[in-house]
Amino acid sequence: MIITLDGPAGAGKSSTARALASRLGWCYMDTGAMYRAVALMALEQGIDLAAAERLVELAESLCIAFEGGGVCVNGRDVSMEIRTERITQATRPVADAPPVRDAMKRIQRRMAVGIDLVTEGRDQGSVVFPQAELKVFLTASPEERARRRHAEELSRGRAVALTDVLSSQAQRDDGDRARPVGTLRPADDAVIIETDGLNRDEVVERLLALVAALQGRKESTP
Ligand code: C5P
Repeated sequence: MIITLDGPAGAGKSSTARALASRLGWCYMDTGAMYRAVALMALEQGIDLAAAERLVELAESLCIAFEGGGVCVNGRDVSMEIRTERITQATRPVADAPPVRDAMKRIQRRMAVGIDLVTEGRDQGSVVFPQAELKVFLTASPEERARRRHAEELSRGRAVALTDVLSSQAQRDDGDRARPVGTLRPADDAVIIETDGLNRDEVVERLLALVAALQGRKESTP
């Protein structure tokens, strides 16, 4: 079974998806981390971020795995490195390139074969797994999302101003919505959850209830 969790930056997708996968005992895939990993490796290997075909080759050659709450590329834990502002910026052209998105769709579908999966990103329900049993679009007001991202940055020891977080978030939201391929949007049949005023555990409980209802329906179908 596949559950997709899409939504804008800072909506709490990663922590929610990770907690949900852990409660269900399922695998977890952070597709933003995958785009970030390709950007990191491209910079390290001196690959031009505008050379889409070279980025496709690179993406196809990488072994990306989600282990112990982190992400490994070719066996190396890059969880922290991919979160820097430099990599956030470098990820934009990578994620905007249609051939790269196409390759990532293939890779993500390959990784999902034969497993129960919670996958999160921008296009998981709308493009990559349109047949997923449960598609969720998590969202929250820009102010709430920026407050959460700000707290997260501080907890990682990075002192940033809330106003800077808000403006870089607005820039990313605009980019995600303007992207012609893999545009940020809920799948037509997605359940939309507004998370303002809800903590992570409350969101996870709602999702678990949706999964239980779905599993109950499956069992009662002859
Ligand atoms: O979610 P996160 O901030 O880690 O995503 C990193 C970048 O990858 C963002 O620019 C986002 O737009 C892009 N992305 C994407 N498609 C996905 C997941 C992330 O284009 N499925």
